[in-house]
Amino acid sequence: MLIEAIDLAKNFGKEKLFNNLCFTLDRYQILKITGPSGVGKSTLIRCLCKLESLSSGTLNINGAIGLVFQYFQLFPHMSVYENLILAAKYHRLANVEQKADKLLADLELSEKKDF
Ligand SMILES: Nc1ncnc2c1ncn2[C@@H]1O[C@H](COP(=O)(O)OP(=O)(O)OP(=O)(O)O)[C@@H](O)[C@H]1O
Ligand SMILES: [Mg+2]
Repeated sequence: MLIEAIDLAKNFGKEKLFNNLCFTLDRYQILKITGPSGVGKSTLIRCLCKLESLSSGTLNINGAIGLVFQYFQLFPHMSVYENLILAAKYHRLANVEQKADKLLADLELSEKKDF
C-alpha cells in the first residue's frame, strides 16, 4: 500500500472542505478526483504532500510523494469545448459531445463552454 487515508478532514476556519475522506492507493494505481472549482482538490493533494496540515484523520504513506503543479495546457485558438473534445474526436470515440456536456455540467462549468 502506497497511501492509506483514513477519515481525513480539512477546514479553513469555518469553511469545511472535506471530511470522512477514506481511500487507499497502491503503486501504479490511478485515482481521479473531480469536482467544481474550490471544493478542495488541490488542498487534499497539498495535504498528501505535507505542504498543508490536515484538520484530522490518519494518513499513512509508504515512501515519498511527488507533486506535479497545476497549470494550463489548452490550445489558445480553440474554445473550452473544442479543447475538451479534441482528443476524443481524434480517437473517434462515441457520444463525445454528450459526454463533454455532462462533464462541464458536473464541474459547474457549462457557462464557460464557448469561452
Ligand atoms: N491557505 C488557505 N487559507 C484559506 N483558505 C484556503 C487556503 N487554500 C485554499 N483555500 C480555500 O479552500 C477552498 C478549496 O481550494 P482548492 O484550491 O483546494 O480548490 P480546488 O478544488 O483545487 O479548486 P480548482 O478546481 O479551482 O483548482 C477554496 O475556497 C480556497 O479559497
Ligand atoms: Mg486546484
